[in-house]
Amino acid sequence: MNADNTDYELLVVGSANADLVVGVERRPAPGETVLGSDLAVHPGGKGGNQAVAAARLGARTALLARVGDDAHGVLLLDAQRAAGVDTVGVLVGGAPTGVALITVDPSGDNSIVVSPGANARLTPEDIRAAGSLLSAARVVSSQLEIPLDTVAEVVRTLRPGTRFVLNPSPPAPLPAEVLAACDPLVVNEHEARVILGEEAGEAPEEWARGLLALGPRSVVITLGAEGALTADGTDVVRVPSPKVDAVDTTGAGDAFTAALGWRLGLGEDLPTAAAYAVRVGAAAVTRKGAQGSYPTASELADTVPEARSR
Ligand code: RIB
Repeated sequence: MNADNTDYELLVVGSANADLVVGVERRPAPGETVLGSDLAVHPGGKGGNQAVAAARLGARTALLARVGDDAHGVLLLDAQRAAGVDTVGVLVGGAPTGVALITVDPSGDNSIVVSPGANARLTPEDIRAAGSLLSAARVVSSQLEIPLDTVAEVVRTLRPGTRFVLNPSPPAPLPAEVLAACDPLVVNEHEARVILGEEAGEAPEEWARGLLALGPRSVVITLGAEGALTADGTDVVRVPSPKVDAVDTTGAGDAFTAALGWRLGLGEDLPTAAAYAVRVGAAAVTRKGAQGSYPTASELADTVPEARSR
């Protein structure tokens, strides 16, 4: 237990999926069949990925999730424990483990279909029952591969002073009480455009202004190879990314969000935390898969050093 009475620097409340990954020359168009590589099965899910990314960087991390009582569930729990994540909050049973069907093309871009399975059975009651876990966290991070009602219950259950980070992926209209708790709301271009609708505009600065007007305390927009943009109502800051050769972008956004939330909890300001998170995301795209691509802090320092002129 620390000075602020927290056991965990980051608690992730979210999904855990088995990722079934096939490499393809070209992702199929509607109605098209393409042949791909041999199938690879990796631990994934936006929640599981965030938890592993933070733990590998050295954060005291816990995961609140639900997996099935099956072989995929065992795979996912083993991966979390191997990374050092506390899995006391991972519930087992109720439906098969969630599965993500992923195709990755030679540029590293992917398409993903998720069958939520047990993730859809992580209920508001499960959140209420995990009140002590939520109280023990400095930062709580969620995504939308679990029911929105469950995310809303997370927000209601937060201890005053706990920071809430949300990546609304896959994007959906968000209730005002959820938006108001986000500090920050973390979106990519696609998510920003879905949430903002036709009035989104073309520039990330416009998206940030539009999103802030919906109520979150701060906004971070990930911009792929261009880095990220942070906005907190006072400052809008562009955070550049180091140049890397992308092999597979799967899960890079999850690593970014986990690193961002952890560093904010350590007391860094938004642009400084985002600069660290951009390096983590850049490191993650240089290796295949999601969790297997995440760097430790020393690998990060070796492979994507801090930019000198900040
Ligand atoms: O963000 C990447 C993740 O999205 C994959 O690991 C997959 O499980 C899907 O949830």
